[in-house]
Amino acid sequence: MIDEILARYPAMAEAASAEATSGWFRAAGLPDAHRRHRSFKFQPSIDREVIDRFRDHYLSGIGIELTDYAIGKAEILKAQPFQKFAYGKLIFNQGYSDQLQAEFDAVFSKLDPAQIPLFLHAVEDVIDCGGAKGVCTAEGRLIVCSRFSIRMAVRAVRTMSMLQTLDQMPGTLLELGGGFGKTLADLMIWSAAETAIYVDMPLNMALAARYLDIVFPGRVRLVWSDEDRVQDGKINILAPWLLAEKMDRSVDVMVNFLSLQHMQTESQAYYFDTLVRGRTRHLYHENRLAPRDDTEGPLRATPFRTEGEILASRVVDVPWFMNAKGDAVQNEALAIWSELIRY
Ligand SMILES: C[S@@+](CC[C@H](N)C(=O)[O-])C[C@H]1O[C@@H](n2cnc3c(N)ncnc32)[C@H](O)[C@@H]1O
Repeated sequence: MIDEILARYPAMAEAASAEATSGWFRAAGLPDAHRRHRSFKFQPSIDREVIDRFRDHYLSGIGIELTDYAIGKAEILKAQPFQKFAYGKLIFNQGYSDQLQAEFDAVFSKLDPAQIPLFLHAVEDVIDCGGAKGVCTAEGRLIVCSRFSIRMAVRAVRTMSMLQTLDQMPGTLLELGGGFGKTLADLMIWSAAETAIYVDMPLNMALAARYLDIVFPGRVRLVWSDEDRVQDGKINILAPWLLAEKMDRSVDVMVNFLSLQHMQTESQAYYFDTLVRGRTRHLYHENRLAPRDDTEGPLRATPFRTEGEILASRVVDVPWFMNAKGDAVQNEALAIWSELIRY
């Protein structure tokens, strides 16, 4: 699959750039300040090394937060696009290991016994797929994990407990803005979904195709051009500008994490029209409902929320920031909400 991804990436990225002004991205609505971020997502070509070990490289905003790297903030802030950070597959550093184990224990001790199997599965990080990892112990096992995978495992547990409130587990699962595919992979296994559809920006489509092919060998399909089609029983990596012609089936559950919140109003509307209206039964999302700046559409007022029945809604995180006096304060207005919506 990596050879197919590499061979097809340049044509896909070229099509993405040609379509970047349409609803899915609306480049014209974004200020120049977004240019650096955009240059990552629309790379005209990509190296094998970057695709293969993307979490060893500075790529900006593919779901990996600064704190996940066992390196200093100053170092990452001056990183060049696609720069490689040199460390081995596992970090044997006492400080890092102790911190990782403390974070692991803090969340593990709060789990219900029924949640432990999913947590232990989702917290395990793929050793061959880049990124800083350490080893934790729990229940007599050694577990290769990372600060990132601990956060993702907590989220997978939260998501599955929401999905378990539905009458039926999803047969078809769709993720919009799925980063490099970690959450989709975990949910595929635990919900036993047969068919998956993943939609994101060009760089992410390549990285997710690679990651998902490692986790589910032989099941990934690239739906990147006119000749491709979405297939049952596969993990379909579907290009956003092709949705109107390729999105031909109903979806039991769509998920979106920290992604709709970043989009412009027009892009939110584009994705509602092409992915949800008349097609999707449930949406589970975790996002800010209020915009952080004027490039973001207010999710609170979109059809995602106004055209569905909100079955569950609660705050799962409230961000901290430094005020003028240097005190750390929380900003309730920018809280992240966890919501389950039925259409
Ligand atoms: C902050 S990241 C979150 C990634 C992942 N969902 C997670 O929680 O770890 C935002 C994601 O939304 C995607 N995204 C942002 N704007 C998008 C758009 N207009 N169309 C498709 N995906 C978009 C980004 O590429 C990225 O994967």
